[in-house]
Amino acid sequence: MIIFKTKQEIEKMQEAGKILAACHKEIAKLIQPGITTLAIDKFVEDFLAKKGATAEQKGYLGYPFATCASVNDEICHGFPNENRLKDGDIVTVDMVVNLAGGLADSAWTHTVGNISNENKRLLEVTKESMYKGIAQALVGNRLGDIGYAIQSYVEEEGFSVVRDFTGHGIGKTIHEDPTVLHYGKPGKGLRLREGMVITIEPMVNVGTWRCKIDKNGWTARTLDGKRSAQYEHTLAITKDGPLILTEQD
Ligand code: MF3
Ligand code: CO
Repeated sequence: MIIFKTKQEIEKMQEAGKILAACHKEIAKLIQPGITTLAIDKFVEDFLAKKGATAEQKGYLGYPFATCASVNDEICHGFPNENRLKDGDIVTVDMVVNLAGGLADSAWTHTVGNISNENKRLLEVTKESMYKGIAQALVGNRLGDIGYAIQSYVEEEGFSVVRDFTGHGIGKTIHEDPTVLHYGKPGKGLRLREGMVITIEPMVNVGTWRCKIDKNGWTARTLDGKRSAQYEHTLAITKDGPLILTEQD
């Protein structure tokens, strides 16, 4: 069941989203070779506490951390840990901010030191694919238009789109209907209407899109060990077009 949001509810989510965007900017400054993902996780908890917000992922379905921190071949749901990030690594930090009951969900892939040209292209294509998906988030379009825009661009660039994890509706809880696939056919699927709030969060791999899950039951990594990147925004469907809620002014 799709739960439509009022203008006021969307504004509340946007307040959470602004804090989230500011947090990602701080993380980008903080990250350098030698830092651990657990230190980033701790930084996020403190940063949010100072803003009067909380990390919604902590405890959600038993997930133990404020952030997901997925390094190199990890696709998503990486557990923050004590390993030191190295020059040339990439790390996707994903979090959901709760501000007075308004939620916002956003992931960025951050770079550690100097990364290879292929990795730079992976990050650029992943981010651009998200924006191509967002550009299709128009009243009257269908979910398949979003998925097709992402998949066709990513595959033209020679990368692959992860199938096992998707975008989603978001509201009072992190995951609501609908499921937002990052692949698909134009003109197919649910029709988009004003007041829907969804995430678009393509995970893009250098090699195969297939994944395996670690023994912790959470962390997904690429089957071939090649790298994976992700960008995610939360956005509202409005009659004036997509309104990204997880950006700063
Ligand atoms: N932010 C993730 C998403 O985009 C949610 C992770 S679920 C958690 O859907 F349990 F790991 F928190
Ligand atoms: Co999400």
